Amino acid sequence: MTSRVAVGIAGTGSYAPPVVMTNHDFEKLVDTSDEWIVQRTGIKERHFAEAHQATSDLCLEAAKQALDAAKTKPEELDLIVLGTISPDFMLPSCAAILQSRLGAVNAGAFDVNAACTGFLTALHTGESFIAAGRARRVLVLGAECLSRYLNMKDRASCILFGDGAGAMVLAPHAETGRGEILRSTLGADGSGYEFIHMRGGGSRMPPTHESVDRGDHYITMRGREVFRFAVTRMSDLIAQMSEGFPREEVCLVVPHQVNARIIEAALERLDWPMDKCFVNIQKYGNTSAATVPMAFHEALEEGRIEKGKLVVFCAFGAGLTWGGTLLRW
Ligand SMILES: CC(C)(COP(=O)(O)OP(=O)(O)OC[C@H]1O[C@@H](n2cnc3c(N)ncnc32)[C@H](O)[C@@H]1OP(=O)(O)O)[C@@H](O)C(=O)NCCC(=O)NCCS
Repeated sequence: MTSRVAVGIAGTGSYAPPVVMTNHDFEKLVDTSDEWIVQRTGIKERHFAEAHQATSDLCLEAAKQALDAAKTKPEELDLIVLGTISPDFMLPSCAAILQSRLGAVNAGAFDVNAACTGFLTALHTGESFIAAGRARRVLVLGAECLSRYLNMKDRASCILFGDGAGAMVLAPHAETGRGEILRSTLGADGSGYEFIHMRGGGSRMPPTHESVDRGDHYITMRGREVFRFAVTRMSDLIAQMSEGFPREEVCLVVPHQVNARIIEAALERLDWPMDKCFVNIQKYGNTSAATVPMAFHEALEEGRIEKGKLVVFCAFGAGLTWGGTLLRW
């Protein structure tokens, strides 16, 4: 049996597309107000892709940054794993398109669909490949163009989501010297599949004129039920990932940017201080699989990640799915 290779983070990148949609812009579309959205979600604005942009375009920008930061050439990549629920096409994978556009000629590529847990699923997968000695350099991403799937008449859902991409290059920790992944977990409970759902477009309900007219190709959500699940799951994941370590060793929790109230309620359950948690939902909304890598990149740029200290990632979403990671910077 070969021994496990310790895996670290070599570089990160983040990209938000240029169109900024403020809460005031939504006041013109649905019966809502800036005050309601800020109070109930913490969101002030979100970015939407331009008409010519799709998810692989957002990925390309974040990936280039991560590769530069990692001093890695695209041809050195062995694998690309992309968490997304909004690929450019139903077929082929968005990761394959990115592989070609990057010139990652030696890399395999595939997407994972775990909704808002997509990035942590990609991270877990990429880490496992390197740990098992099956790859040396893996690009993992979370990216979405959710603006294309929003029902702009449903005020309860359209105000929540945004577009963006986050990327990380993983390599053996012996080479990166930082970001060693110490623990990871993934979980699912598909009995809750209807909580956050897009009914149309798959093999259960292939697209027809009628399904499109009914709006079956938009994201629907049972917001209150998701809220309850999210608070418990987020606090459980933080507790599970940090278990056995003194709290002072953890410099930051980087949670899925789902709703500022959910984050606050989860931390309150643990008596966890807000200043040890990174929140940027006010600028981007919920970008699903992209929230954690975008937030981590921003936290790094702001100097919030201390050398030698622990960082916790946690996310959950449609499926239902969830995931957590603990790393030492
Ligand atoms: C969607 C969410 C923000 C709604 O907040 P809430 O405090 O639970 O609000 P409720 O659903 O109880 O609705 C309260 C009222 O606000 C109204 N409302 C909903 N969206 C509104 C909006 N954008 N503007 C104004 N009023 C709104 C509702 O219609 C309801 O009105 P009613 O009392 O007359 O029926 C919240 O439930 C949430 O964030 N859930 C998690 C959803 C999520 O992030 N899903 C993805 C997970 S990865």
